[in-house]
Amino acid sequence: MIEVIEKTEDMRNRVGLIKARGQTIGFVPTMGALHDGHLSLIRRARAENDSVILSIFVNPIQFDRNDDFLNYPRQLERDLDLASGEDVDVVFAPGAADMYPEGYSTYVEVACSLTRGLCGASRPGHFGGVATVVTKLFNIVRPDRAYFGQKDLQQVAVIKKLVKDLEMDVDVVALPTVRDADGLATSSRNQRLTNKERQTALSIYKALERARELSISGEKSTKVFVKEMRDILKKAGIIRIDYVSVVDPETLEEPDQAYPEAVAAVAAWVGSTRLIDNTALGVGPEPKLFLQYKTQTVS
Ligand code: PAF
Repeated sequence: MIEVIEKTEDMRNRVGLIKARGQTIGFVPTMGALHDGHLSLIRRARAENDSVILSIFVNPIQFDRNDDFLNYPRQLERDLDLASGEDVDVVFAPGAADMYPEGYSTYVEVACSLTRGLCGASRPGHFGGVATVVTKLFNIVRPDRAYFGQKDLQQVAVIKKLVKDLEMDVDVVALPTVRDADGLATSSRNQRLTNKERQTALSIYKALERARELSISGEKSTKVFVKEMRDILKKAGIIRIDYVSVVDPETLEEPDQAYPEAVAAVAAWVGSTRLIDNTALGVGPEPKLFLQYKTQTVS
């Protein structure tokens, strides 16, 4: 049976024991509904650390819409089975009252351009909620390394900035997006798609692939990239698009001229499900693992 800890104080004590043994901690923070992307993070954490801690907490303060919070998939038993299969040492699964007890009043804001555009523009308060919960989780778990997926490009950039600004002693490791065989990026939210919607959602991947094709063929104008990607989404029947952009992976600013390390990024609604995805434009047949070389510099 995998060890599950619900109370923050118990988790702190457990971490104390691990540290007392001089062991390193690899931490994979999640909101549960684990998919192959999460499993790839766990596997890397397992390979690089003595102990692996996985957190499962659907963080209420990072949702900009209550219906999204209520409908977020929750499947703890299945998640525990998956975590157990990946040799996770401890699952930290606190309740909202443990993380935000009555009277809770401290919030962390990464107040810079990184949080203003892209998802920050369409999901007000989202990154404040993420920064707050990640700060709390890091303080409780005290990881040596923490693992995040590059599908959440902006989240990775924001967390790296948070870690740097607050002098947190943790390595942020960002790993490539895991895709289903047909290209759809794995996401907990995919569970909500009907078969037909899943087909429509594939156009997000197709739009990103088109951006890579344009880049490889020598196109430079980001306006052209954005127009072609939008056309593909619209043609597939996606009418609600939060953004289609080409950005620098570190600054998240949109250049006029694209370059191989720049990232094409999309957030769009398929039915009532909001999906995000991105890809480095790259120059070869495989997308460049754009953040991997940079994570080494964050400590
Ligand atoms: O990426 C997620 O699942 C969440 O945003 C995170 C980092 C676990 C914070 O709640």
